[in-house]
Amino acid sequence: MLAFYLLSLPLALAVVAVSAAAVATTKGCNRQCLTNMVDEILTSMVAHNPDILPLADLYKATENSHPAALTMMHSWRTIVSAGEPSLLAIDVNNGSAYFALDINEGDPYAPNILRGRIVVFNDTLTEIELFIHRSRGDHGFSFSPEQLANNSAVVMDVPSNATLPTREELMTISKGLFNGADYENNLTIADSCQFTEIGWLVPNDHGPYGNGTSYGPAGCEIGWTDGPFDTNARVGLVIDEQLGLVVQSGMIPGVVYAYRNLSAFIPDAFPGGQNQSVQWTKDYLGDYPLLYAFGSTGETMEVLQYYNGALQAIQINVFMNPPNATSAWLSM
Ligand SMILES: *[C@@H]1O[C@H](CO)[C@@H](O)[C@H](O)[C@H]1NC(C)=O
Ligand SMILES: *[C@@H]1O[C@H](CO)[C@@H](O)[C@H](O)[C@H]1NC(C)=O
Ligand SMILES: *[C@@H]1O[C@H](CO)[C@@H](O)[C@H](O)[C@H]1NC(C)=O
Ligand SMILES: *[C@@H]1O[C@H](CO)[C@@H](O)[C@H](O)[C@H]1NC(C)=O
Ligand SMILES: *[C@@H]1O[C@H](CO)[C@@H](O)[C@H](O)[C@H]1NC(C)=O
Ligand SMILES: *[C@@H]1O[C@H](CO)[C@@H](O)[C@H](O)[C@H]1NC(C)=O
Ligand SMILES: *[C@@H]1O[C@H](CO)[C@@H](O)[C@H](O)[C@H]1NC(C)=O
Ligand SMILES: *[C@@H]1O[C@H](CO)[C@@H](O)[C@H](O)[C@H]1NC(C)=O
Ligand SMILES: *[C@@H]1O[C@H](CO)[C@@H](O)[C@H](O)[C@H]1NC(C)=O
Repeated sequence: MLAFYLLSLPLALAVVAVSAAAVATTKGCNRQCLTNMVDEILTSMVAHNPDILPLADLYKATENSHPAALTMMHSWRTIVSAGEPSLLAIDVNNGSAYFALDINEGDPYAPNILRGRIVVFNDTLTEIELFIHRSRGDHGFSFSPEQLANNSAVVMDVPSNATLPTREELMTISKGLFNGADYENNLTIADSCQFTEIGWLVPNDHGPYGNGTSYGPAGCEIGWTDGPFDTNARVGLVIDEQLGLVVQSGMIPGVVYAYRNLSAFIPDAFPGGQNQSVQWTKDYLGDYPLLYAFGSTGETMEVLQYYNGALQAIQINVFMNPPNATSAWLSM
């Protein structure tokens, strides 16, 4: 982490010089231009100065689901180091990109995760949707800045002989995640499919009683089948045919329950799991302090990877919102 911290400044300065030239000479934003835009955003955060960005006259921006001018966001105030993205999906057709990486907000030994989506139109940034995760509670359970880089490297390393999907295939899969009827039962899942939640390879977990069926680390089935679904999901946000990646976002109603001395978000789509948590809380009440069960909405932004005719990775990224919440991005 310390090396990471020290390296980031010269790297960031080099990036600004390259990107200014790329943006000036490119009309549509190509792969390099979108890569540079992401780097420029990270550089401006570390410089605590959003004014150096090519923002559109009217731009859309949220951070952890809250709309705000960039100058008022945490990211431009607290981030003191950011390297290159660990995960980077680029959609030249839609002028969009998705990225995820570890950042530091002062304590080099406690990295946090920044992830987000941008849209570039006419050489300007029109949309910036950011999430900073600082703890497991932001997701309702899982989070690992320690594992993010390694697990992302696996996803970024697409074999050179891979059979890549078309945009249309990726779009169908994007819709299928939130609408089981379209794709639920006939999508092939690779044996090696990597299932992560905010950087974390979900480990074997046997439920609060410790006696349930285990799942993970290769548990893409649990991320793909049986919902939760969302008919208003934003699909095909970033479609990267070169890496077989597609990004989409849904709003998932559920409840945050006590889970031993932790807490866990369980979607309403899983009533069996919810019932078990209700019963478990009754059984253990009084043994040690337990979190009260709160209604909650998980705002997701999943990254799916598909090539060689099979699902290769599911990254379930969730940020906790109040109950019955919708997304600011659905309000326009
Ligand atoms: C693109 O930006 C230029 C200014 O840099 C402006 O003149 C032009 O109208 C913009 N085009 C669109 C389609 O917004
Ligand atoms: C990440 O990968 C590197 C190189 O393979 C390894 O040394 C390191 O222990 C890994 N870190 C984690 C957290 O898995
Ligand atoms: C790609 O190449 C590897 C060896 O590098 C081989 O094992 C694999 O079967 C090949 N895959 C396809 C889809 O051709
Ligand atoms: C199965 O997959 C194809 C795409 O390969 C899709 O068009 C179709 O709707 C899917 N669903 C079912 C139930 O066949
Ligand atoms: C796990 O234990 C709980 C409490 O004893 C019980 O209600 C539940 O049926 C058990 N589950 C399994 C899968 O054995
Ligand atoms: C991205 O491009 C696809 C066409 O491949 C289109 O259907 C989709 O609506 C676009 N997504 C956004 C968010 O513009
Ligand atoms: C939480 O419970 C685990 C065992 O399930 C234990 O190892 C850990 O120390 C506990 N943490 C606290 C803060 O009580
Ligand atoms: C969950 O509990 C409710 C009410 O107690 C019950 O109606 C429902 O059938 C249960 N669902 C499952 C899947 O256990
Ligand atoms: C959320 O909506 C449900 C109905 O769909 C309602 O019963 C519940 O009271 C609402 N919760 C809050 C906190 O508004």
